Amino acid sequence: MPALTLARFQRITPQQLRAFESAARLLSVTKAAQELYVSQPTVSVQLRELSVTTGQRLFETTGRQIRLTQAGEELYKAVREVAACWQRFEARIAEINGLVSGRLRIAAVTTAEYFVPDLLGPFSAAHQGVEIELAIENRDRVVGRLTQGIDDLAVMMMPPDDLPLERLQFQINPLVIITSSKHALANKTVELNELSTERWLMRESGSGTRMAAEQHFKEHNFKPNVVMSLGSNEAIKHSVAAGLGIAVLSQLALQPSVWSGAQSAAATTKTAVPLDYEALCQAGLSIVKVKDFPIIRHWSVVWRKDNPLSATARHFLDYLQAAAAQKKT
Ligand code: PGA
Repeated sequence: MPALTLARFQRITPQQLRAFESAARLLSVTKAAQELYVSQPTVSVQLRELSVTTGQRLFETTGRQIRLTQAGEELYKAVREVAACWQRFEARIAEINGLVSGRLRIAAVTTAEYFVPDLLGPFSAAHQGVEIELAIENRDRVVGRLTQGIDDLAVMMMPPDDLPLERLQFQINPLVIITSSKHALANKTVELNELSTERWLMRESGSGTRMAAEQHFKEHNFKPNVVMSLGSNEAIKHSVAAGLGIAVLSQLALQPSVWSGAQSAAATTKTAVPLDYEALCQAGLSIVKVKDFPIIRHWSVVWRKDNPLSATARHFLDYLQAAAAQKKT
């Protein structure tokens, strides 16, 4: 803003602006005086001073009526913009203060437990007044919580289509096929249909991992020989390592969190962190290289469109978006 304009602006008092706003809105000095609980001459003086400072006639009189001149219209617009700007500032401050004692309720599907705590860590450290409630459930139960509107946000791979949801996709989620490191298939490259006689271990029904695997198998006309369903990723890993069968699992369940330390720079919404094959082998596991694998899915954070987000949840989304953007650069 040029110095001259600023110098003029500094000579304007809040009382003058209030008198002007009221008179411009009500198109009456008398009514403005009544609204502001001051005398009519007081308002007239304030309007005259404002006119002198701006160097413009702000009102013109037609009979007993006043109306705004073109300059007056412009000033009225500027005053409303300043008021709107101030309201936004106050709302933001209220939001920031609200964070001090806010609560953030997040539901995350079981596979997300491998990285959600690393995401929440820095946020929690930076907002010590925020109480975070994290519920870890399988996909079906997270969808149930979304239906009931229990949480502010949910982290999942396959958001349901039949709920009014907003979503922010922030991380790739490749699903791979694992075997025991002693299995003949370990580190081999094969076609999917060569695996039809294998013993398949699946996550329980209601799991998003299972749902994604089943969709993929169906698309490729493949029927796995499912011998066991297990209720957690860890149970799958241990059973596969023990040689009970092979399974589809999120790559994130096999490696350190992509959001922790140096790893975070390497993962994006398009590229996953490379696997540490040695560590995998030490855990008794190996990846089977299968055509049309990995299944590429993504992690999203979702929230209900019909449930206004709390200031805390919005703040967390901003943080997540910034963290994801940082990983892309
Ligand atoms: P799961 O879910 O952990 O229940 O397999 C993955 C998902 O639905 O995103």
